[in-house]
Amino acid sequence: MSSFPIIRNRRLRSSAALRNLVRENAVTVNDLIYPIFVTHGTNVKDEISSMPGVYHFSLDRLEEEIREIVALGIQAVLLFGVPHDKDAHGSSAYDPNGIVQQATRLIKTWAPQLLIVADTCLCQFTDHGHCGVIHVDEAKGKADVKNDPSLELLTRAAVSQAEAGADIIAPSNMMDGFVHAIRQGLDAAGYEDVPIMSYSVKYASSFYGPFRDAAHSTPQFGDRKTYQMDPANAREALREAESDIAEGADFLMVKPALAYMDVLRMLRDRYQLPLVAYNVSAEYSMVKAAAAQGWIDERAVVLETMVGFKRAGADLIITYFAKDIVRWLQA
Ligand code: PBG
Repeated sequence: MSSFPIIRNRRLRSSAALRNLVRENAVTVNDLIYPIFVTHGTNVKDEISSMPGVYHFSLDRLEEEIREIVALGIQAVLLFGVPHDKDAHGSSAYDPNGIVQQATRLIKTWAPQLLIVADTCLCQFTDHGHCGVIHVDEAKGKADVKNDPSLELLTRAAVSQAEAGADIIAPSNMMDGFVHAIRQGLDAAGYEDVPIMSYSVKYASSFYGPFRDAAHSTPQFGDRKTYQMDPANAREALREAESDIAEGADFLMVKPALAYMDVLRMLRDRYQLPLVAYNVSAEYSMVKAAAAQGWIDERAVVLETMVGFKRAGADLIITYFAKDIVRWLQA
């Protein structure tokens, strides 16, 4: 075995050109999915205070944003609805005239080639803020999210999103069997070609805090720990991914991303489906806050983070930085 001084690892780092030649991973515009929040009303473009640079858009202000995204060359947006009407069953999630359905139809008229990924969940649409229907056990004084009755509502939401023109259905609710139920529902309605991007491995994370401000989806009681995963568990992530694959998922996702890069790597090593990393709201807000203080170089930190996701095994990245990244890559 030869070693130093025969082997010198610095040889391949001696110039920018050489480093370019041996670089193993890169982020491109084709890897990015940009989340958008749509809401009711007119002339709304309200910045989310905990997420500088991210807005709520009413439909009449959305076109400009979509044109900017398309001009940057971004291939896909992830749509989140922020509805006015909430009820116990989240019925505005599967209303054919719901905010996501309306936005989807409009975006398709402006930019038919832009892929619309529809987040399928109930939490923004329920008055209790949970991702499924609630059953209160009076005797035990306990409320819980019921799995199987929630599946029916989630399936209705997914089918109505596909009917409106969504290209990809992205269920984020973490009920058991949601991929199976949604796949059956889509197929029965004639949408057998619409893929499912499953939030397969979604942890009960504190990194969703700013999103819940943005989407008004904080649970009104309790937490999401009976359906989202325990951050301490990695083997369990494999079980979640396996059941989603068996149920017909077309993409797997790990969420959040930064504190879960080991999980990205585990999934990449074991499964062949395209793998998505969700760079969630607090991962965005923390960088924005530090950059605003002048403590970090935002561009450098974000690009390093993104290539880190690729190195960990992600094929695609959902990020609120998508527009900035494309501009930085072009510069
Ligand atoms: C809805 C949903 C959440 C996020 C995406 N879809 C919040 C949650 O589960 O509480 C979080 C996204 C982010 O933090 O950027 N279920």
